[in-house]
Amino acid sequence: MQADTLNRPMRDLRISVTDRCSFRCTYCMPREIYDDHEYLARSEILTYGEIARFARIAAEFGVAKIRLTGGEPLLRREIEKLVQELSDIDGIGDLAMTTNGQLLGKQANALADAGLDRVTVSLDGIDDKVVRAMIDTDVSVDTILDAIDVASDAGLGPIKINTVVRRGWNESQIIPLIEHFRGTGHTVRFIEYMDVGTTNSWKSDEVVRSADLLTQIAQKWPIVAVGQAYRGEVASRYRFEDGQGEIGFISSVSEPFCGDCSRLRLAADGTVYTCLFASSGTDFKLPMRTGASDDDLAEILLGVWAARDDRYSELRGAAPLDFPRVEMSYIGG
Ligand code: GTP
Ligand code: 5AD
Ligand code: SF4
Ligand code: SF4
Repeated sequence: MQADTLNRPMRDLRISVTDRCSFRCTYCMPREIYDDHEYLARSEILTYGEIARFARIAAEFGVAKIRLTGGEPLLRREIEKLVQELSDIDGIGDLAMTTNGQLLGKQANALADAGLDRVTVSLDGIDDKVVRAMIDTDVSVDTILDAIDVASDAGLGPIKINTVVRRGWNESQIIPLIEHFRGTGHTVRFIEYMDVGTTNSWKSDEVVRSADLLTQIAQKWPIVAVGQAYRGEVASRYRFEDGQGEIGFISSVSEPFCGDCSRLRLAADGTVYTCLFASSGTDFKLPMRTGASDDDLAEILLGVWAARDDRYSELRGAAPLDFPRVEMSYIGG
């Protein structure tokens, strides 16, 4: 096992396959910035062969779990071909994808056939008006809910639902979301609004602390804490005492979880980052395209991980630290 300077293993690889998205979530890709944004050109983006090559090398160092993200990963053409290549890698026990759900209904069966184990779907509420305001896009909640059903039938469940909570925007949706998903086997996870990147104008008073949500929810449904499903899990889990399933909280602002962070991130352009809040990374595309051997690439990766000392969320405190940070849509959440 290769440990970093804080003795954390390299266990999870998050791969952003595109920096583009069909949504304009206010907290991630605000329309005023991203409608007129210079996205990566096709030649700048890693091919599926290059991504799979990197993943094979990372697997040699102990990566056992891969998550495909974006932007929106389903915008990348024939993504099931990449899924197939990744699912063939020895040692990868869990292959997942985080998607906004818009195209999932059409693609779920092909993804499952190609070897995807599960999907996580972002959904910020049940009410169309509230959700449209959050995602700033004309998509109906029913489209996403139908896609969740199709994905579940295709074997990509149980499905996690990611809900970013932003004060003044969607707190009204907490209880309705739980009411909808309780008893379905799917798990809603409430995410504290984070200061990822620098374009979302994050303010700490828009963060709703998980502890406050927990109190509110527990008044309606008795819940008990459940231990981590695996070391380094970002969500704290709770189950309903009446046996109707689980919910989760991702509290990176109020309760940072850097201590166990085993995540390596590969951006669509081949830059490797060791933290969601990094300001710079290490390029793998140029070496890959100029003849580096697998051993050369392994050596670079080993050096990157051995030097890793990131723990941004622990250092942040109540206010974002003042340095440039890569955007969520580019680094992949
Ligand atoms: P599971 O394997 O299902 O547990 O997935 P996951 O929770 O690791 O992945 P997902 O893409 O669903 O991420 C959920 C939320 O947690 C997103 O908002 C991510 O940005 C956030 N998140 C994931 N990893 C990290 C991390 O290392 N640091 C911080 N601060 N947030 C993270
Ligand atoms: N804070 C918290 N979560 C965010 N996501 C995107 N931007 C933010 C943010 N600023 C979430 C999305 C998606 C996941 C990968 O990251 O909702 O589910
Ligand atoms: Fe797209 Fe996901 Fe960002 Fe929303 S949070 S803009 S769906 S990448
Ligand atoms: Fe890992 Fe960085 Fe998130 Fe901490 S802030 S959990 S080090 S990605």
